[in-house]
Amino acid sequence: MTDLKKLTDFAPKHQHRAYVNSAVRFHHPFTKEERLTAAIEAGWNVFQFPSKMTIGDFLSDSGTTTPTIEQLAASLLGDEAYGTNWGYEQLLEQFEKTFGITLLGKDAGWEIFLFHQCRAAEHALFTQIGRGKSGLVIPSNGHFDTTHANIEMNGIEALDIVSTRDEDFRGNIDTEKLYQLLVEKEKGNGVPLVYCTITNNTMAGQPVSLNNIKEIWLWCKKAKKPFFLDACRFAENAWFIKENEHPELTIPEITRKTFSYCDGFTISLKKDGLANMGGALCVKKGTVLLDEYPDILDHLRDHQICTEAHPTYGGMSGRDIMIVVEGLKTVVTEEYLNSRILQVRSFGEYLDELGIPVVKPFGGHAVYIDVDKFYQGTTMKREDFGGISLTALLLLNGPRLCELGAFAFGKYDPKTGKETLPPFNYVRIAIPRNKYEIEDLFYTADCIKNLHDKRDLIPKAVPIYGREKTLRHFKARFELESR
Ligand code: F0G
Repeated sequence: MTDLKKLTDFAPKHQHRAYVNSAVRFHHPFTKEERLTAAIEAGWNVFQFPSKMTIGDFLSDSGTTTPTIEQLAASLLGDEAYGTNWGYEQLLEQFEKTFGITLLGKDAGWEIFLFHQCRAAEHALFTQIGRGKSGLVIPSNGHFDTTHANIEMNGIEALDIVSTRDEDFRGNIDTEKLYQLLVEKEKGNGVPLVYCTITNNTMAGQPVSLNNIKEIWLWCKKAKKPFFLDACRFAENAWFIKENEHPELTIPEITRKTFSYCDGFTISLKKDGLANMGGALCVKKGTVLLDEYPDILDHLRDHQICTEAHPTYGGMSGRDIMIVVEGLKTVVTEEYLNSRILQVRSFGEYLDELGIPVVKPFGGHAVYIDVDKFYQGTTMKREDFGGISLTALLLLNGPRLCELGAFAFGKYDPKTGKETLPPFNYVRIAIPRNKYEIEDLFYTADCIKNLHDKRDLIPKAVPIYGREKTLRHFKARFELESR
């Protein structure tokens, strides 16, 4: 008798996805000329280009997830009551299970504040942290752009201290620098809390090790400082911890361990909540944060009620809440995470094979092109904003990418006419969850290769509006000019 199991045992070259399609949407039929007209009208700014004209929208992985059938079914059960909707309790139960925190009952150790998205939660937190104080600095492995902006708008310095020493976890915080900062008297006194972003979006989506998180937590305990996570991509970060640090643990176990090492966290549920909308701030009770800010929980609640609404839904609808409850169940499954992260990896490897300079190892939610290396050997200079030109020209073929480099993170002083350029210069290709198939990604890679082959001819991007503004990448307009 043939051993049927053995006969069918093999290592497939291609991975199957973790899901099948239950509904699809065809692309709108636009010509290249129509896209050109629209791109000029948008001032070559990808943020202002109509999404219906894209073929492959990789502007962001945020809020762009395709929901599962279970999420859509659950959304029909959403309770849109103004007060104490029935999904809220399910949300709290799911948060308890996923993050290992206690939110229910009168002895709950944590408090939750719901917001329509994460930046509203950040705004609430940093408004309270900065109120009436000066000389504060919040260190992090990498503040996301809106986190950075929310901190600085409240008169606090946002400081990035990343360490790329660990090859597998290039998103780690530099614990030596953190130590110096926390023990160095003057600055240490000005640190109201320490932040760590998992995964580190600003630093090319690189993961942070559990060891690093634990070490930050221990330093913070020693220095009596609260430690908060920016947990937007906690599940993807857990997948890397499983792959490179703790293969013996399950993803749910790693997740709960991760959150046992913090005093609070902000989360955009538009990422690893697998939802299109939603955010939260969770704060542990009885920590050093409350010693320094005894009324903060009350003030945060007031802020939430005044700006978002009833505490049981914040800025979310009853439907959003149900979608998040389901999303948090799916996001920690290995089937989902393998399919998600290996898709990003296959795409990155294909770009690499084509000779496109990409940041390696690949992170969880995006592949980053190194713009300086992309133009190496040409006359394109950093201040010519070649990343903007690349994203602008790709629009004509359909793919929409996002520059996160010299322009997005640079600063222009109109008085001196000088640009201050950031230490890195990337274009990000963020992959929405459960939305695209590998062919879509390969098509995008081929479009990038075409421009890489012709990189000598790519014009520079000249800002004609908004160069001096804050968050200028959202607002600016450009002209493309030959070099
Ligand atoms: N923190 C990180 C690490 C993020 O990546 C984002 C958003 C936020 C906070 C803010 O969350 O959008 O819910 O207000 N990142 C998106 C992106 C927009 O494209 O990377 P939000």
